[in-house]
Amino acid sequence: MIEWIVVDDEAEVGRTGAGILLDTIGDNPRAVLGLPTGKTPLPMYASVVERCRVENHCFRDVVTFNLDEYVGLSPSHPSSYHSYMRAVLFDHVDVDPSNVHIPDGTGLRVRQVRPDVTLDEALELECELYEEALHNRGPLEVTFLGLGRNGHIGFNEPGTPFVSRTHVISLTESTRVANSAYFSPGETPERAITVGIATILESRSIVLMAAGEGKQEAVQRLREVTISEDFPASALHRHPEVRCVVDRAAFGR
Ligand code: PGA
Repeated sequence: MIEWIVVDDEAEVGRTGAGILLDTIGDNPRAVLGLPTGKTPLPMYASVVERCRVENHCFRDVVTFNLDEYVGLSPSHPSSYHSYMRAVLFDHVDVDPSNVHIPDGTGLRVRQVRPDVTLDEALELECELYEEALHNRGPLEVTFLGLGRNGHIGFNEPGTPFVSRTHVISLTESTRVANSAYFSPGETPERAITVGIATILESRSIVLMAAGEGKQEAVQRLREVTISEDFPASALHRHPEVRCVVDRAAFGR
């Protein structure tokens, strides 16, 4: 069941998401959160950081799992999602680094203990370990999502099976074009590790955020309630508790 929450603008989408996030950890200081990257959640993280400065919110026991990471980028690469998360949230709150989980897109974590495996084997093992960590520390209480123009959630591109678990995915051309702004010409990664759709659907509650006219077509498609693997976000119709926080520009008429 999707509940639509339509607000004025991108900033309000962020404040609404931040309110949900902070209420979640207020109710449960050990909450396990699924966290997105990209442009859409930036106002949410800014609002969380701002409120943490003036209010007393404690991230110490909060556990986080990011949705995805590019294959081939080290955590210190400025365009990695590790760097993104440090810059927008983790460097500004009292989160315990041992509670933070982001897939390792280099396979190095695995190769340190299994130097015999190829890169692709290491990435497969990394996906299994990530899924295992989610299982051991989860369930996810709230997972926050952005919405790709092609309907992707996490980096689950169109055609990804709804039963998918954490896996390596080849990014579509449209996603690579959308993300090329963050990379030097010719350096946009071709693959990513993403949690799967089945993994996302196991979250107790889901908050999808979308803002701006550029997302209107995708939001419209989601509102149509046709469930199809061609449009990954449509899997959310199978979940009992989804809130879609969108601004007027994305919601359209
Ligand atoms: P964006 O990406 O927030 O950068 O628009 C959303 C997504 O692709 O999931």
